[in-house]
Amino acid sequence: MSTPRGRRVTMVAALAENGVIGAEGNIPWHVPADFQHFKATTSGHVLIVGRTTHEGIGRPLPDRHTIVLTSNRDWRGEGVDVAHDITEALELADRVIDGREEECEVMIGGGSVVYEAALPYADVQVLSEIPVSPEGDTHYPEFDRRRWSEASREPRDGFTVVRWERTFGCGGS
Ligand SMILES: NC(=O)c1ccc[n+]([C@@H]2O[C@H](COP(=O)([O-])OP(=O)(O)OC[C@H]3O[C@@H](n4cnc5c(N)ncnc54)[C@H](OP(=O)(O)O)[C@@H]3O)[C@@H](O)[C@H]2O)c1
Repeated sequence: MSTPRGRRVTMVAALAENGVIGAEGNIPWHVPADFQHFKATTSGHVLIVGRTTHEGIGRPLPDRHTIVLTSNRDWRGEGVDVAHDITEALELADRVIDGREEECEVMIGGGSVVYEAALPYADVQVLSEIPVSPEGDTHYPEFDRRRWSEASREPRDGFTVVRWERTFGCGGS
């Protein structure tokens, strides 16, 4: 849990009622207010994303320090840092934050392979519940609700933002 230097790790995702987060490389709904929410939640922070998600967006998102996860040692991306496993990504995030003066956190921006890898390190999940059940090929990972408590639930324009915080205890993600 947390980064090696004890910084909070927050997963930010939007998921459908059936757990779907993606279909054929895209997000299978259009909820502009949720994009605004993602932007507001992650701006100013370090954002860790998978190579597939990064290439789907096609550019580094502004006002975020992006770290792209890939197993390909030759992969390079303009305006982003690269890490080859989740612990390397979290160590790199720590170094980026060490070099900053302003408050900054570690955000996990998906997709599902990255959420799965980061879940054991996550302290907080900020999940947008989208009231749809589309076909999809990528899902948010299951997590053990006995190890997490719902800290807040906020209805927004067309979706609900639920904040989960990890509770103390043994085992489970
Ligand atoms: N609804 C949401 O909130 C949300 C958010 C983000 C993305 N999405 C959707 O999710 C889908 C993409 O998700 P995805 O699961 O297919 O792909 P992804 O997690 O974005 O990227 C997977 C790739 O990232 C690299 N990677 C991931 N974990 C790694 C690790 N621990 N170590 C080394 N490399 C790692 C690998 O790249 P290499 O193959 O290069 O080794 C892997 O193939 C898209 O449909 C996207 O639109 C939805």
